[in-house]
Amino acid sequence: MGDHLVNRISSETMLLGVIGDPIRQSKSPLMHNSALQALGLDGVYTAMHVLPDKLEDAIRGVRALGYRGINVTIPHKLDVMPLLDEVDKGARVIGAVNTIVNDNGKLIGYNTDGIGYVRSLREEAESDLRGKRILVIGAGGAARGIVYALTQESPEVIWIANRTVERAVELAADLQSYGNVQAIELERILDIRSNVDIVINTTSVGMFPHVDASPLSLEGFRTDLIVSDLIYNPLETAILREARLRGSRTHCGLGMFVYQGAYAFEYWTGRAAPVEVMRQAVLQSLK
Ligand code: ATR
Repeated sequence: MGDHLVNRISSETMLLGVIGDPIRQSKSPLMHNSALQALGLDGVYTAMHVLPDKLEDAIRGVRALGYRGINVTIPHKLDVMPLLDEVDKGARVIGAVNTIVNDNGKLIGYNTDGIGYVRSLREEAESDLRGKRILVIGAGGAARGIVYALTQESPEVIWIANRTVERAVELAADLQSYGNVQAIELERILDIRSNVDIVINTTSVGMFPHVDASPLSLEGFRTDLIVSDLIYNPLETAILREARLRGSRTHCGLGMFVYQGAYAFEYWTGRAAPVEVMRQAVLQSLK
C-alpha cells in the first residue's frame, strides 16, 4: 500500500473514506485500499472520526473537497439522509444510508449492507433463495436491511423472532408489502423449527468477548439447515460451532462486510470489486 500512495497521490486522486464515531477499529481503509491497489486505481480511502454535531459540516466537506464517495457508519446512518440530494429506494425503505456517491456534486445515498449480505449468502452458502423458509433472529437496524434484501429473492416466508417481540412485529409490518414477512414469538420457534431452511442471527449475541453466548439452540432443527451469523469476530460464533458439529452448513459475517464494501467500491469506481483481495486483507488483519 505504501507504493500505491507514494507514487500516485496527486490532485487527481479519487478521494474516498468512511465517517463514524467511533472509527478507530474500522477495517474499511485496509479493505478498500487493498482493492484500489489491486486494480491499479488512483484513489485513496481514509477513516475519519466525525462526531454527531459535526456531521453536517462533514457532508459539506465531501461536496467542497470533491470526495467521490464515503461510507457512513454508526451513529450517522440515519441522520445523514436529509443532508443528501437523493436517497435510493432500498435505503429509504431500510431507513439507513451506509454509502454515498458524489456524482458531479450530487450526493446520492445507498444502503449496501442488506444486498451485500444477500450476495455473500448466495455466493458462499445457497445460490438460490427462492421458496426458502428463513428464520431471522433480531429486529434491529441490521435485521431491517437484511430482511428487505431477502424479500427481493422471493423466499416462501421470512419469520422474525426477537427478544422484544414488539420490534419484530413492527419490522414485519413495515416490510410486509415486499414479501411474506411474519413476526414470531421466541417460544413459537418450537412449532416451526423443523420447517426452517436458513437461520440468520442478526443480534450481537455471541460477539467478542461474549463468545460462548448463543441466540438460539439448534435442537430440533433439521441438520440440512444453513446457519448464518452476521458476526465476524469471532469468525465461528457459538451458534456456528453448534451448527458445524451437527453437520449443518455455516455462513459467517465476514462476507457481508466484504460485499457491502464491494458494492460501494463498484458504485464509486465503476469497476468489478476484487472481492477475494478484499476478503484476504480483512482476514489477515483479524488473525
Ligand atoms: P443493529 O443495528 O446491530 O441491529 P440494534 O438496532 O441495537 O443493532 O439491534 C440489536 C438487536 O440485537 C436487537 O434485535 C436486540 O434485541 P432487542 O430488540 O430485544 O433489544 C438484539 N439483542 C441485543 N442483545 C441481546 C441479548 N442479550 N439477547 C437477545 N437479543 C439481543
